[in-house]
Amino acid sequence: MMQTLTVDLGDRSYPIHIGPDLLRQAGLLVPHLQQPRVAIVTNTTVAPLYLSTLQQALEQAGVQVLPVVLPDGEVYKTWESLNLIFDALLQHRCERKTTLIALGGGVIGDLTGFAAACYLRGVPFIQIPTTLLAQVDSSVGGKTGINHPLGKNMIGAFYQPRVVLADTATLNTLPDRELSAGLAEVIKYGLIRDAAFFAWLEQNMTRLVERDPAALAEAIAVSCRNKAEVVAADEKESGQRALLNLGHTFGHAIEAGMGYGNWLHGEAVAAGTMLAARLSLALGWLTAADVQRIRTLFVQAGLPVVSPDLGVDSYMDMMGLDKKVEGGKIRFILLQGIGKGVISGDVPPDVLKQVLARAALDD
Ligand code: NAD
Ligand code: GLY
Repeated sequence: MMQTLTVDLGDRSYPIHIGPDLLRQAGLLVPHLQQPRVAIVTNTTVAPLYLSTLQQALEQAGVQVLPVVLPDGEVYKTWESLNLIFDALLQHRCERKTTLIALGGGVIGDLTGFAAACYLRGVPFIQIPTTLLAQVDSSVGGKTGINHPLGKNMIGAFYQPRVVLADTATLNTLPDRELSAGLAEVIKYGLIRDAAFFAWLEQNMTRLVERDPAALAEAIAVSCRNKAEVVAADEKESGQRALLNLGHTFGHAIEAGMGYGNWLHGEAVAAGTMLAARLSLALGWLTAADVQRIRTLFVQAGLPVVSPDLGVDSYMDMMGLDKKVEGGKIRFILLQGIGKGVISGDVPPDVLKQVLARAALDD
C-alpha cells in the first residue's frame, strides 16, 4: 500500500513515504533521528486528531517526545509563533541532535522548518503533512518561512527535511474546502509540466473530490514525483523551480490583499492561475479552448475562478513585492499550452493592467 519516492539531493537526499496509517509506523522515522528525542510541532486543530497516535508510536519505540501546540491559522504564520517554538525548545533544553517534527498543514510545516533552520543554527527536521496541499507540495522541497504584513512568505530559508511521511488516512478528517485548496496545487503540476497528468485529472476529478483513496494516492504520488524532479534540478530556484509558482504572484496578492486566512492559499492560487491563463491568452500563447479547459477543471475541483476586485493599482503594488522580482521587473509564470509553463519578465504593462482590470469578471 505504501509508495516511496526520493528527492535526489546528493547526500541530503530524502524519502517521501505515501500511504494510509503511516503515523503509527515509528519505524519509518526512527532511522532518521540523531538521538531518541523529538519535538512535535502541531496546532490546536491537528493535535486532538493525530498527536497522541504519533506520540504513542514514537514513545513505544523509545523516543522522548515534547509536544508544542500552536494556535491554528495562516494569521499565526509569524515571528510570534516562531518564538513560541523557540521558548518551548529552550525551556526543555532541546539539543542540536533533537529533531523537530512538523505535524500539520503547510502553515505548521513552513513554520517548523524555519524554526529548525534557525534553532541552534540548524537542527534536523521531519515533515508529516496532514493536508492535501502539504502532502503534494509544501512538505517537499525545503521552502520554509513565515509571512510579513507587507508580503507572504517573505522571511524564510531553504532547509530540507530528513524524511516526509504523507499519511493519506489523515485526509479523511480534512474539511471539503481544504481538500479543494490542495487540488489547486495538484492541477498546477499538470499545467506547468505534465499534460498527461492534466488529462488524467480531467477524467478523475470527481473521484478525487469524493475522496476515492486510490485516486488520491495516485494524485499525491504523481504530484510529489513532479515536485521532486523540479527540486532535484533546481533546489534554490535559480531557474525552473520558479514554474512551481504558477498563479502565486497573483495569488499572494489576493491572500495579502484580502487579509491572510480569508482566502485559503489554494483558492488564491486557483484564481491567480486563471489570471495567469488569461494573461497567456492575451499574449497569444494559450488558446481560448485551453483557458476553458483550465476553468472547467478548477470548477470541478470546487475552486474559485474569479479574483477579488482589489483594483489594478493594489494588485500592481502587492505583486511588486513578489520574491521573483528581478531588477524591479515582475517575472510571471505563464502558459504556452497545457503542460508547458514558462517564466517571462517581459509582459507589457498595458496588457497586464487590462487583465487585472477584468480580474473580477468571469470571462
Ligand atoms: P493550513 O496549514 O492552514 O491547514 C489548513 C487547515 O486544515 C488548518 O486549519 C489546519 O489546522 C487544518 N488541518 C490540517 N490537517 C488536518 C486534518 N488532517 N484534518 C482536519 N483538519 C486539518 O493550510 P495548508 O493549505 O495546508 O497550507 C497552506 C500554507 O502552505 C500557506 O501558508 C502556504 O504559503 C504554504 N505553502 C508552502 C509551500 C512550500 O513549498 N513551503 C508550498 C505551498 C504552500
Ligand atoms: N511551492 C513552490 C516551491 O516549492 O517552489
